[in-house]
Amino acid sequence: MIDDFRRLDRELEKLRKKIKGLEDYKVSSEVFDKSTLLTLYYLANKGYIDILDGVIKTGKEANVFFGEGRDGEELAVKIHRVTTGDYKSFLKYIEGDPRFRDIKKSRRRVIYTWVRKEYVNLRRAREAKVRVPEAVAYRNNVLIMRFIGKDRIPAPMLKEYEMKDPEAMLEEILKQAGRLYRKAHLVHADLSEYNILVHRGRPVIIDLSQAVVREHPHADAFLHRDVSNLVRFFRDYVEITEEEVYGRITGGRAWNT
Ligand SMILES: Nc1ncnc2c1ncn2[C@@H]1O[C@H](COP(=O)(O)OP(=O)(O)OP(=O)(O)O)[C@@H](O)[C@H]1O
Ligand SMILES: [Mg+2]
Repeated sequence: MIDDFRRLDRELEKLRKKIKGLEDYKVSSEVFDKSTLLTLYYLANKGYIDILDGVIKTGKEANVFFGEGRDGEELAVKIHRVTTGDYKSFLKYIEGDPRFRDIKKSRRRVIYTWVRKEYVNLRRAREAKVRVPEAVAYRNNVLIMRFIGKDRIPAPMLKEYEMKDPEAMLEEILKQAGRLYRKAHLVHADLSEYNILVHRGRPVIIDLSQAVVREHPHADAFLHRDVSNLVRFFRDYVEITEEEVYGRITGGRAWNT
């Protein structure tokens, strides 16, 4: 046991040398608990991450950091808290999804599954040519993806973005959401103006941890909610109904009221 701790400390010492910037944070220790540090250390040694520098966003369940890869490429590093935060609400999106049905239900396991789920969803969406961040790597509670933005400035959320042509923006979002549904066979399940970034004038869908396959028993209910969110946001700018949006995304299925 003592030896384990000594080994851990030695590894952590190496880690501190490995990832530039990590030391400078005054982030609460619950973000960088020892197991998270070890995970970052592992990812650094694999060559995925060189620099961790600055918080993009802190949240209840996860913090997103700015990072750089080996070749200076800009990264977003999403780190889920393992010691605090809600994880029970994740189960609703995990248990009905046949890809993840058989996982253990401890807090740590659920969170690790959550992170893996976001990784595979991002990959799957990208394969279907949906505009999502490119997933680079994941391990335990850490997900590394390409940074959406430029020169360390993250792209704004749709919520904060001043649209010049709302109709074209909605059109592009429907195209992306349609691909997600019809090609990737996924429902985002938290689609809103908060989880769409606008990069070079075009939408990028983010935050796919809760996205489920279409076979999930609540997939259609989640899709109805996503559609309602989009319509609520765009109603002020464009004349559009839930029926139309639902039909566009699903390729002609009828909206259930
Ligand atoms: N690839 C990325 N590039 C740039 N910024 C990103 C990227 N991914 C996430 N972000 C930023 O981090 C924020 C939170 O990310 P995300 O929505 O994935 O996490 P979350 O789980 O919703 O966090 P919370 O629970 O706090 O809402 C986003 O709103 C965005 O500003
Ligand atoms: Mg989000």
